Amino acid sequence: MVFSEKTAVIEVKGLCKYFKSLKAVDELDLEIQKGEFVALLGPNGAGKTTLIEMIEGIQTPDAGEIKIFGMSWKENPIFLHEKIGIALQETRFTDKLTVMETLGLFQSFYHQSERPPDDIIDLVGLKEKKDIYTQHLSGGQKQKLALAIAIINRPEILLLDEPTTGLDPHARQEIWEILLRLKQAGATLILTTHYMEEAEQLCDRILIMNQGKIIAEGSLEDLLNQNNAVEIIEFQSAQLIQREALLKTEGAIELYLEPNQTKGRLKVKNLIRALPSFLDLAQGNMIDLISLQGRKMTLNDLFVSMTGRRLDE
Ligand SMILES: Nc1ncnc2c1ncn2[C@@H]1O[C@H](COP(=O)(O)OP(=O)(O)OP(=O)(O)O)[C@@H](O)[C@H]1O
Ligand SMILES: [Mg+2]
Repeated sequence: MVFSEKTAVIEVKGLCKYFKSLKAVDELDLEIQKGEFVALLGPNGAGKTTLIEMIEGIQTPDAGEIKIFGMSWKENPIFLHEKIGIALQETRFTDKLTVMETLGLFQSFYHQSERPPDDIIDLVGLKEKKDIYTQHLSGGQKQKLALAIAIINRPEILLLDEPTTGLDPHARQEIWEILLRLKQAGATLILTTHYMEEAEQLCDRILIMNQGKIIAEGSLEDLLNQNNAVEIIEFQSAQLIQREALLKTEGAIELYLEPNQTKGRLKVKNLIRALPSFLDLAQGNMIDLISLQGRKMTLNDLFVSMTGRRLDE
């Protein structure tokens, strides 16, 4: 008998969700292993929330199958509720409950919540705010409270929809630290995000979603290496740029010009070799460069080259 170290805790097969003729989630397959941290990235409307809410049991699929710990929502709703912690893309709290009362309320929904809310309040850094009404929390503090609610039942699986959207960099970092602590304790996580840095810092695997499908997946390194670790020249000119002018750059792979035709990105095999010829061509074609940057490829570049759209648009 062969034992595999991998244990899939979430299995999704042929999952579909339609809104009239719109395929929000389109024949999607997915497997998440125990202890894995997975980021779901994609532009607005890609289907991230629809997918995650079907896994949360909030939306019903039109077709396909979701198994969590080998069980379906239909047959084992109570068991799965106990095992899963969720934070929706937007959370509304009851204004006239304090932070503590809100947590107490959510804790009362679960059978076995071993941790008293005090611990959780400390963990998410809301100790000083525990007795104030939720309506007086700042946006970032509300996000922390939403996270506290998601972990109140010590879930084995966390499903977080844009947990750090709108937060300042410091607050975002604090949430990452909380999540990394939960990772050490063995939790499994799917989060959606528009921040590539978040995916990079937290997650073992990144799924890139567009128009209801996963169009690329892997570690950040895998994803970028699929494109042979190319480099990018990013530029802006004072005049309109004609595509042909820059395509003869040494080692040019692909040129993306923004619709205004004054800004663009050129993928090249080797930045150091490409730059002199790029500058010669710009000069020869009367292109007045007002900015120029050479850098490694990012996930956003990869996404633009796959779909023509930016991930963070
Ligand atoms: N209840 C609904 N009725 C009709 N259309 C819907 C409904 N919910 C979602 N959609 C559509 O399904 C598509 C996917 O939406 P979804 O919210 O899953 O995207 P998303 O990837 O989470 O986007 P964002 O990054 O903006 O949160 C969108 O085109 C959206 O308009
Ligand atoms: Mg969403």
